[in-house]
Amino acid sequence: MNQDNFENESTLNGTYHPEQEDSGSDRDSSNSVYSMSSGEIEDHFIERHDRRFHSHGNGRPGQYPFPVDDLESQRLDHMHDLVKDLLDGHNYRGPVQQTLAVRADGHRVRILDIGTGNGKWVEEMADEFPHTKVYGLDIVPLATRYPAENVQFEVHDINSTTRWAQGRFDFVHMRQTCFSPVNVTSVIREISRILRPQGLFLACEWIPGIFRMDGSDVTPLTNHSTEILNRLHDFSTHQRLFCDPSSIPVMLIESAAFENVVAERHFVYLDETALGRRAKQSLLDFARASRYYLLDSGIAVSEIGQYLMDLRSGLDNGGEMCLIYLTVYARRKVMLQ
Ligand SMILES: C[S@@+](CC[C@H](N)C(=O)[O-])C[C@H]1O[C@@H](n2cnc3c(N)ncnc32)[C@H](O)[C@@H]1O
Repeated sequence: MNQDNFENESTLNGTYHPEQEDSGSDRDSSNSVYSMSSGEIEDHFIERHDRRFHSHGNGRPGQYPFPVDDLESQRLDHMHDLVKDLLDGHNYRGPVQQTLAVRADGHRVRILDIGTGNGKWVEEMADEFPHTKVYGLDIVPLATRYPAENVQFEVHDINSTTRWAQGRFDFVHMRQTCFSPVNVTSVIREISRILRPQGLFLACEWIPGIFRMDGSDVTPLTNHSTEILNRLHDFSTHQRLFCDPSSIPVMLIESAAFENVVAERHFVYLDETALGRRAKQSLLDFARASRYYLLDSGIAVSEIGQYLMDLRSGLDNGGEMCLIYLTVYARRKVMLQ
């Protein structure tokens, strides 16, 4: 194992001492955040099925189901580009530009991305809003060690309290974490703590499954072509890994910490347009990425192979089908009840 140390790098894939809090300056002080060595980085990963996975919870129920390697990073990049096209070329929905406007009082606007993955969203936001400081958190170090000046990636399990004081962020974003070992109720509580009053939270998730368009009605498609998705849903629900994205608006309202909750469903038609074909490919890639988790659930390799073929032919031959992308944004209340 390589023990090179990155402590002297000016940028980091870091972790932190939880008892110490962000200093409030633009650059985090070295005593609240430290750079990880290559050895520490490697400790976050294990090899299984010839792919790289989280070492967290290795082999135990509820561990993160997808690989975390270059191939998976490419999958997430394609998904990122697809979602951006779906949102009219933007990396967000809701009053983000207004929330991130330059402040007359000189306060540096701060953005946090939870479950940041390879950090593509963070880097693009930092580029679009250069006056902001953008933080990306993930339980494993996946993002670059050499980000832009206004970017910082940190390693943190979002199920525990972050190092920041209350009200430190203007905008918190969380995308595609519904198949993750994340306790969404407690994460919403933590987000409401670190958001400033009237700060903005945005959650973005695919609603699992394929949907059929029957006139104005949208119904989940259930036949043999969706079997692999059903199995993933059932197994991850059984392992308490899956959070139904449709419940996020209610969770925000019930937390009593948010107001102006806006949930929007964006439909991607699985047709022969360029977007439709990319959506089909993304769905197939997602199903392929979940095959290792399904193998761990005890399903035979041949059976998973058959499910994948069924999905492919269902997408090739299906009628009016779509995927649904859900965006939910809300303002943190000024006064918490
Ligand atoms: C499907 S990826 C999405 C990555 C990124 N948000 C995107 O949209 O491209 C989910 C990410 O959540 C991270 N994750 C899972 N559980 C986590 C936890 N408990 N705390 C922080 N990050 C977590 C995973 O490591 C992974 O990078």
